Amino acid sequence: MRDWNRFVQAPEGACFAHMVAPGYSGAGDRFPAIGGMPVSPIANIVGSDGRAATVSELDSSSSRVPHEFSGLEVRDLTTTYGGIVAVREASLSVARGRIVALIGANGAGKTTLLNTICGVVRAASGDVRLDGHSLLGRPTHSVARRGVLMVPEGRQILAPLSVRENLELGRLACHHRAAAAQYDVEKVFTLFPRLRQRADAEGGALSGGEQQMLAIGRALMGGPEVLLLDEPSLGLGPKIVAQVFDALRALNAAGLTILLVEQKAARALDVAHEGYVMERGQIVFTGTAGELRQEPRIVEHYLGGAVP
Ligand SMILES: Nc1ncnc2c1ncn2[C@@H]1O[C@H](COP(=O)(O)OP(=O)(O)OP(=O)(O)O)[C@@H](O)[C@H]1O
Ligand SMILES: [Mg+2]
Repeated sequence: MRDWNRFVQAPEGACFAHMVAPGYSGAGDRFPAIGGMPVSPIANIVGSDGRAATVSELDSSSSRVPHEFSGLEVRDLTTTYGGIVAVREASLSVARGRIVALIGANGAGKTTLLNTICGVVRAASGDVRLDGHSLLGRPTHSVARRGVLMVPEGRQILAPLSVRENLELGRLACHHRAAAAQYDVEKVFTLFPRLRQRADAEGGALSGGEQQMLAIGRALMGGPEVLLLDEPSLGLGPKIVAQVFDALRALNAAGLTILLVEQKAARALDVAHEGYVMERGQIVFTGTAGELRQEPRIVEHYLGGAVP
């Protein structure tokens, strides 16, 4: 019998996925970018009020402001590391039932934004709301208890535990959530048959792709309302990436709300309904996935080619 307390050391009910998410992933010192030195390819789309332009605003003067919002909202969020601004007045919305992609280059602030949503790092200002209820300032386990669960950058699988045990830990960490009953080990194995074959293998013995599947499965075991994924394709071959993204599509088709952080913008926009572009800590652009795929500046800087 495992002594789970060895692994679950955070306050009661803390979500494993958050507990293991690092506050800092060793991204290195790329911060001068936010000091304003390198010129952003499309940051000039940010208006004088600091708000990102939408494609429709660029094309016309229309804009939509929903009054009642069901889903995850980030409002004017600013996060600093020792006085250095990593996320600057960022706003985005993930309506229930949608997949929203957040794309941006290295060091843009994507992970910091996700970590701030989860309470892994503290916001300097702004708000994070789920169905209108503020999550800001809550500890990570409390955010998890509300159903906002993260699949962290680098997967953070517990190497000595088996696949099955890693999954059970995901449930244990969020055991209080009734919604956790929606997912069980069998359902995760149905979603990722490869994990069934590896059920008794140690997490550390898995390939990168298998670990990514396991990280997603572990978060599902916590019964997410909103799933946050940080670069799920990182380091994986195209075949495995396709499998992972197919799984995200299937989960979304079953009703799961997803915020997907990706550097592989084309892949992300293939599965997403809407997208946001982040540069130097700011959201500089937003629109539907189709709009973003057609926008010449996005195509040039993030999709690596000519407008289709
Ligand atoms: N704990 C920290 N302390 C100091 N600076 C940090 C910390 N975490 C991140 N940064 C800096 O904040 C900026 C945003 O980093 P972040 O990791 O959020 O970017 P990212 O968009 O996720 O990048 P990547 O695509 O490489 O994962 C970077 O310049 C990074 O060096
Ligand atoms: Mg990151």
